[in-house]
Amino acid sequence: MPTIESLPRYKLASLPTPLDELPRLSRDLGIRVLMKRDDLTGFALGGNKARKLEFLLADALQQGAQMLVTGGGPQSNHVRMTGAAARKAGLGARALLFGKPPDQVNGNLLLDELLGVEYSYAGTDDKLVTDRMLVELNEELRAQNRKPYLIPVGGSTVLGCISYIIAVGELLEQLRAQKAQADYIFITTGSCGTHAGILAGVKYFGASIPVIGISVSRAKSECETRIANLAQQTAKFLNYELPITPADITVYEEYLGAGYALITPAARAAIYRVARLEGIFLDQVYTGKTMAGMIDLIERGAIEKGATVVFWHTGGMPGIFGHPQDFANSG
Ligand SMILES: Cc1ncc(COP(=O)(O)O)c(C=O)c1O
Repeated sequence: MPTIESLPRYKLASLPTPLDELPRLSRDLGIRVLMKRDDLTGFALGGNKARKLEFLLADALQQGAQMLVTGGGPQSNHVRMTGAAARKAGLGARALLFGKPPDQVNGNLLLDELLGVEYSYAGTDDKLVTDRMLVELNEELRAQNRKPYLIPVGGSTVLGCISYIIAVGELLEQLRAQKAQADYIFITTGSCGTHAGILAGVKYFGASIPVIGISVSRAKSECETRIANLAQQTAKFLNYELPITPADITVYEEYLGAGYALITPAARAAIYRVARLEGIFLDQVYTGKTMAGMIDLIERGAIEKGATVVFWHTGGMPGIFGHPQDFANSG
């Protein structure tokens, strides 16, 4: 049975990422906010995917892959990071993007160009259809003997989750060193691997910190099923008892707004507030909505005043430049 320590890993991220105190935002909100800075994983402009890709890339290389294949939106941070990881290891990169070509090549898509990611468009925004097309694309590449390694959208696999079990160990050590106790962890829930990994990590290390996910792309019920399945598969892979029950899985869908990648007024306000109080950037697709959710839950009294909260910053800043019009005439 593999152990976490025995799994092959390809170094991409600068770790540990800082655990920063946010004193001005804390004062404003009436709680203590600590921010886990996975926006500062370093490699290729950072973000949560660097941790996942350390294990996925190592696995790809072990299997003799010659290219990484994945999918996501035109402004996908995951596609940018997968492209960069592939290049660093001397591999090719192929991506299937949702929807149709946008009017402008900017933000993450521009970085994909710089990296030489070969990309095409699925012609649909339907995630399930795109997932199926991605599998077909991978089969075609295999038939052409291009030795592809398929990474599902978001890198949310067992190996991706394991990287976040390790990240929780890193966080717990930092909390101990800072003599702090976290009452809650807030995380952005997209393809669900980061949330599932953090939850599995909290159980793995025997900590009892509630993990609160803010969904930015899926219905609550879909997130709950994905998180439960991913956490269970990860536990099975490691042959480890991780007693995760439905009561452990908390996801809010109320902050998604009109849909994935569509900014909400509350997310815009949260982005401005954090930038102006702390000099830290959040993005409009992921972390801005999560911060908006956290602020609302504090204001509604669901998070008690005086609590200590870890806000897990998962990166995504290149996306700001993908849709600058989201910020026009406000602030
Ligand atoms: C910046 C950022 N934050 C959060 C997430 C969500 O992580 P996950 O897909 O593991 O749920 C993503 C995924 O693409 C992301 O790019």
